[in-house]
Amino acid sequence: MTSKKIRAAVRVSILFITAFLFVQCGTSKISSSISGVIQNVNPDEAKVIPLPVYDKPTGNTFTLTSTSKIYVEPATDEIINIGNYLKEKLSASTGYPLSVVTAIKDSSLENILLTTENADSSLGDEGYKLIISKDLITLQAYKPAGLFRGIQTLRQLFPVSIESASKMPGPWEIATRIIIDHPRYKWRGAMLDVARHFFSVSDVEKYIDLLAYYKINIFHIHLSDDQGWRIMINSWPNLAKYGGSTSIDGDAGGYYTQKDFSDIVAYAKARYMTVVPEIDMPSHTNAALASYAELNCDGKARSLYTGDDVGFCSLCVDSPETYNFLDDVIKELAAITPGPYIHVGGDEAKTLPIPKYDYFVEKVEKIVHKYGKQMIGWEEISNADLTPGTISQFWVNDSLALKAVKDGIKLIMSPAPKIYLDMKYDASTKLGQDWAGYINVKTSYDWDPAELVKGITDKNIIGVEAPVWTETLKTLSDVEYMAFPRIVCSAEIGWTPAAKKNWNDFEYRLLVQQERWDVMKINYYKIPDKRLN
Ligand code: ACM
Repeated sequence: MTSKKIRAAVRVSILFITAFLFVQCGTSKISSSISGVIQNVNPDEAKVIPLPVYDKPTGNTFTLTSTSKIYVEPATDEIINIGNYLKEKLSASTGYPLSVVTAIKDSSLENILLTTENADSSLGDEGYKLIISKDLITLQAYKPAGLFRGIQTLRQLFPVSIESASKMPGPWEIATRIIIDHPRYKWRGAMLDVARHFFSVSDVEKYIDLLAYYKINIFHIHLSDDQGWRIMINSWPNLAKYGGSTSIDGDAGGYYTQKDFSDIVAYAKARYMTVVPEIDMPSHTNAALASYAELNCDGKARSLYTGDDVGFCSLCVDSPETYNFLDDVIKELAAITPGPYIHVGGDEAKTLPIPKYDYFVEKVEKIVHKYGKQMIGWEEISNADLTPGTISQFWVNDSLALKAVKDGIKLIMSPAPKIYLDMKYDASTKLGQDWAGYINVKTSYDWDPAELVKGITDKNIIGVEAPVWTETLKTLSDVEYMAFPRIVCSAEIGWTPAAKKNWNDFEYRLLVQQERWDVMKINYYKIPDKRLN
């Protein structure tokens, strides 16, 4: 086929498919057929997480072969990079070269076309159309981010061994289908606490890569707390050098240079993920108070802290020196943060009277704005008089969330009893904590952000975020065990329409993901395989 013929064929098939969907969309339902002992599972359904908005099998098979190529159009650097990302993800296990080709002039079949040309704007920034026919895979999106999200779906449609780091036998077949997909929420976040225990740049990047596989688009990094300050601030170097020298239990500390941080930001950006840095304040600041005596109201530096208590100290909110300090910190952080947000913590300031706390939050909000950023804080900030555009992160207190909503402040939903990934699965879990209860996998899946607190609906919510606090987690393997599979539950909550969510169906798809994690060699909490019963 010539280039023109391929384009014409793609356009005709997209037109045909759109007409076909117009007829089908209203009538398609998840079948109630039984697969194994898990009910309500459609055996033809793609075993993809998050579940796509629309998925229709078309009864044939596409096979990737050693001569398959990845066509990209238009041939911008950005779309070529996305093509190279796909090539990298598919070529180790298949052993195929999968060249990325910018000029469509080849007549061979079994190719993949990534295109933003003639795409429907209704797909939005992250939506995509994936049309898998016998001869060609067409992934079309309105924006490059949509291509990136669609690639994650495509990866999950191949046999699980596609994720192997070494060559596997294949065959690399996919059942032909049409998927049309876009996210429910624009904010689908994951937070990693690198303050209680420190994680290297490569650990963080590995975690980001796993998050991207589930279409998570926000990486919130909790960079400072009582036990450690993890980012070099050039104008206050002791924060990182001294304040970053410890971890909880006296474990090894560490910090990121600004170059390290920029590397993490770039790694996330290449995965269409925004990094949100958090400096927790005015409490959770022992590491800073130990590094500089002048930040303390009594002028005396505190000792470094390696315990696991919270809320026992505060920056000196009456002192101008505190705001000079925060101006420097936020200025430097904003300069290395291309994303629009700075998170200022604000949680558990137990030693401060409320009027002083509110005064502090309102002053800090002005500093964040001075450096061109939007402020985010944990729900406690909702008590202050906030400016529209500031975002409050709900974690435990319904009244504060309702106060935010009353003031027109949008919420990120991180309810601790559902989504705090450091909570134990059950009483036998060795790692983690239990102050918000045990969170088994079904509990972490079976909730809806817009139905959790009466009076808070989707119009108040920008999305969901799953935090991992690391008081008890010392290694990335520990983090993986607590995050997987529950991070995947929150990914589906953030992406898939509420009406399509179904625990039994999810559980079935999760079992296939577990096989993928075995291939990827990541640590995870295994749910029992009911398919074997
Ligand atoms: C929090 O868990 N202290 C936000």
